[in-house]
Amino acid sequence: MMKHLFFPGENSSRPTLLLLHGTGGNEHDLVGLGKEIDSSANILSVRGNVLENGMPRFFKRLAEGVFDLEDLQARTEELKSFLDEAAQTYKFDRDQVVAIGYSNGANIAGNLLFEYKDVVKGAILHHPMVPRRGVEIPVMSGTSVFIGAGKNDFMCPAAESEELKDLLQNAGASVEMHWHEYGHQLTQSEVQAAKEWYKANF
Ligand code: MLT
Repeated sequence: MMKHLFFPGENSSRPTLLLLHGTGGNEHDLVGLGKEIDSSANILSVRGNVLENGMPRFFKRLAEGVFDLEDLQARTEELKSFLDEAAQTYKFDRDQVVAIGYSNGANIAGNLLFEYKDVVKGAILHHPMVPRRGVEIPVMSGTSVFIGAGKNDFMCPAAESEELKDLLQNAGASVEMHWHEYGHQLTQSEVQAAKEWYKANF
């Protein structure tokens, strides 16, 4: 089980936004962002099950930017199972899920895409890293991804954002990149770009 909030959308045909917070956040953090992206969607906002010095995360890390790959895999599976169960509990269309993640939440969303074919219909990844390297990733021809990245992001260098874009595109995903001049923070212009991308795709 994962701690979460669920807000039903306007009607059952609307997509469901799966909201995944950054390190130290919780299930309340991105609800406003989700509503900004699509006020009529269902919202499923989840809290990561790992605690790092009291800060919730979606998977363990060995150091800053160095992931515990075994835990990442186990937590990704846990999140996937939770999403499958939540679709039954709340009766939303499992084929119309769009993940929205920031930082650590974007990293587990990226790994969901790397591990499971058609796990979500789309993803908005704010400041993601490459979750794993040297692995085969599923065909993503039906998947649309928005990546928001900072040219001066100390956590995620620009080359790593480009690497993630290439990996997803080579797997067949349609990817849009949005760059800003700043660091790891989520800016209003990035949110607006994500909103326009979402409107055009869903
Ligand atoms: C991570 O561990 O997922 C990244 O370093 C981003 C973050 O600080 O959460």
